Amino acid sequence: KPIVLSGCQPSGQLSIGNYIGALRQWVTMQETHDCRFMLVDLHAITVRQDPEQLREATLDGLALYLACGLDPDKSVVFVQSHVAEHSQLAWVLNCYTQMGELNRMTQFKDKADRHTNNVNAGLFTYPALMAADILLYQANEVPVGNDQKQHLELARDVAIRFNNIYGDVFTVPEPFIPEVGARVMSLQDPTKKMSKSDDNVNNFIGLLEDPKVITKKLKRAVTDSDEQARIYFDPAEKAGVSNLLSILSAATGRSIEELVPEYADKMYGHLKTDTAAAVVEMLAPIQQRYQEYRHDRSYLNDVMRRGAEAAQAHAQVTLQRVYDAIGFVPRP
Ligand code: AQP
Repeated sequence: KPIVLSGCQPSGQLSIGNYIGALRQWVTMQETHDCRFMLVDLHAITVRQDPEQLREATLDGLALYLACGLDPDKSVVFVQSHVAEHSQLAWVLNCYTQMGELNRMTQFKDKADRHTNNVNAGLFTYPALMAADILLYQANEVPVGNDQKQHLELARDVAIRFNNIYGDVFTVPEPFIPEVGARVMSLQDPTKKMSKSDDNVNNFIGLLEDPKVITKKLKRAVTDSDEQARIYFDPAEKAGVSNLLSILSAATGRSIEELVPEYADKMYGHLKTDTAAAVVEMLAPIQQRYQEYRHDRSYLNDVMRRGAEAAQAHAQVTLQRVYDAIGFVPRP
């Protein structure tokens, strides 16, 4: 089975964007791939996090992974900072990544613009850590959204560069573009993607939010000022309406082509009400299972312990090969 690696940052409450764009696909990939799913807390601290909130978000994220259907008997589920090899390989790869390459990363530019008071070196070298995450497990495929393509490309370049110097140390990973790669957009600014760490909480829907709040946020979602208020799918011309249609489609499992004719004579309000009801229904079983997992700390600990052990066993082998290749004397 091809090896797959992916993760979410515990930089806030996981959103329906993370679920529709990532988690949901991961659940089905468990059947066909040898999967590793992490909560990437090392990546999260490239933006300042409150310690208590980071701890909570990591445990919430783990309980949500399980509630969404990630199965620790099928996949390796773990917390990134529990496997020290991520930081160790990241350091090495930092020395094989050029400043010029990192300078071209658009996510760095975006985040540096948004967090002008904390443009730290970790934010800049984030792609080297991501390359380490992937290369440690010799991953064949990495599920990526558009926003992460550039980082994956860099991971490939670094792997190829390293292999050219030292021989075949790393598997060169391929991007895996999910079939239904719906990108969920911000509710108030549907030209931007929905982000869990958005300053405006009305822009995103968290997986743990109360049905009343979810409904309110969707009812307030930005549409457009088309006087005839027509409902059709056109992300360029009708960003808000198209985003609602995408969310409705993802939540009901029905295609956009099938949904659009049903709204031909309806108003934006109908679309919003139906989308809210569908999202609430999609999240209800997840929220219920979340509660069960989140209150069972000993089970969560057990999952984290097993995940870290399995991940580390694999990661140690790769790190040792890297250390040998570059000429580090083995620890006697
Ligand atoms: N809006 C989205 N639509 C579809 N997929 C999304 N993903 C995130 N947002 C959307 C996918 O979720 C996975 C994990 O993302 P992440 O948590 O590592 O970081 P991110 O992509 O930066 O997500 P956020 O919510 O925007 O986090 P912050 O606000 O902290 O930067 C990835 O597979 C991603 O594609």
